[in-house]
Amino acid sequence: MSDIITVKAPVNIAVIKYWGKRDEDLILPLNDSVSATLDTSIMCAKTSVCARPEFKENEIWLNGKKETFQSPRLQNCLKEIKSRAAAENSVNEDFLQWKVRVCSENNFPTAAGLASSAAGYACLVTALAKLYKVKSDVSSIARLGSGSACRSVYGGFVRWHAGTNPDGTDSVASQIEGSAHWPEMHALILVVGDTKKKTSSTTGMRISTQTSELLKHRIKYCVPQRTDEIIQAIKQKDFPKFAEVTMKDSNQFHAVCLDSYPPFVYMTDVSHLIVDLIHKYNELSGSTKVAYTFDAGPNACLYLLEEEVPQVLSFIRHVFPSSNPELFVTGLKTNEVTLNPELKNICEPQAKDLIKYVIHTKVGEGPTEVTDGSHLLNDAGIPKIE
Ligand code: DP6
Repeated sequence: MSDIITVKAPVNIAVIKYWGKRDEDLILPLNDSVSATLDTSIMCAKTSVCARPEFKENEIWLNGKKETFQSPRLQNCLKEIKSRAAAENSVNEDFLQWKVRVCSENNFPTAAGLASSAAGYACLVTALAKLYKVKSDVSSIARLGSGSACRSVYGGFVRWHAGTNPDGTDSVASQIEGSAHWPEMHALILVVGDTKKKTSSTTGMRISTQTSELLKHRIKYCVPQRTDEIIQAIKQKDFPKFAEVTMKDSNQFHAVCLDSYPPFVYMTDVSHLIVDLIHKYNELSGSTKVAYTFDAGPNACLYLLEEEVPQVLSFIRHVFPSSNPELFVTGLKTNEVTLNPELKNICEPQAKDLIKYVIHTKVGEGPTEVTDGSHLLNDAGIPKIE
C-alpha cells in the first residue's frame, strides 16, 4: 500500500463576501460569510502529500513548478496540523519529525479571481489531516492558509463564522445544507480575464479595513441581516431572495473597494455590462431568475436554477460571440435553446471574445480522497511529469 495521500478539493464562491480582517496573522475576518461549494468534477485542486525519513527538507510543487516552503501561511498550516496530531496522539513521534513533500495542481486558471487559493489550501490541509490522521475539524487550519479556504472544507452551502475569540478557535466554517438539499442550483462562471489580478485580496482587504467607512457600516448593519436572510432563503429554497441578497452583497463589496483610499477596482466594463444584462434579463422574465456575483477579479459567477441554464447560455452567446463557439462552454452539458426574440432585443452582439469561456457547474461536495492511485507524486516521492 502506498504511503502517498491524494485529495481533491472544491472551489467555493461567496454569496455573502468575506472582506476585511481583524487579525492578519491568524486570518480572522471582520464578518461572517456564506458560500456555495462547487462540484469537484468540473473545477478542483488536487494535492498529493507524503512524509518519509529520508526526505531532507519540506518541499512543494505547485502547478508543475517548485515553490518555496518558507511562506508563513504554508508553514502555519503544517505546524497546526502537526500540533493537532500530537494533541490527538494520532501518529508516533518519529513520523511527526519526518519532512513532507507536497505536489498540487488546479484544473483552472490560478489567481484570476477564481478562488484558486481556497481550493488549494482546503486540499492541502485535508490531505495533511489524512496523512497525520487528524480527526477534528480542519476548517480553522485551512483558514490559516487563506481565509476563504475554510469554506471549501465542506460541501453544499457553507457559513464561515467570524467568531470573537482572539486566538481564532471559534472562527470556523459549518455546513448550512448539503449539496443534495438544492441540487437544482447551478453556476455559470464567465471568464472575462485570466491574468493575475493587480491588487491581491490580502492587500485590498488591508486598505479597506484601514480606510473604508462603508466597510464599517456594512459589517455592523448589512452583513448580519443578509446572513440571516440568505440562510433562510437557502433552507426554504427561495431562489429570488437568494439571488437578490447575493447581488446586493457583491455590489456592496465592490463599492467598498471604491470607498477605500486609495481606491481599487476589480470589475471591468465587461463585468458591468454583465450586471446590466442580468438585471434586464430578470426584468423581462418577470422574476429574479439569475444572480451575479464578482470576487476580487473581473469574472462573473452566475447562480441560477438548472431549468434556466439553456436560455441564459443562449443569451450569453448572443451578446458575447466567441471565435471558438464549440469550445465556449465547458463543464456540464446542456442543450441550448433558440433565444426568445425579446431577449435578443435586450442587447446587440458585442465584439468577439469579450468573454473568453464559460464554465457550467453546480453545487457539490466537499474534499474527497482520491483512491484510484492517480497520485501526483511517484513511488519515489518525486512529482510525476504530465
Ligand atoms: C473577494 O480568502 O483570498 O473572494 O484570506 O487574504 O487569503 P486571504 O483572502 P481570500 O479572500 C477572498 C475574498 C473574496 C470574498 C470571499 O471569498 O468571501
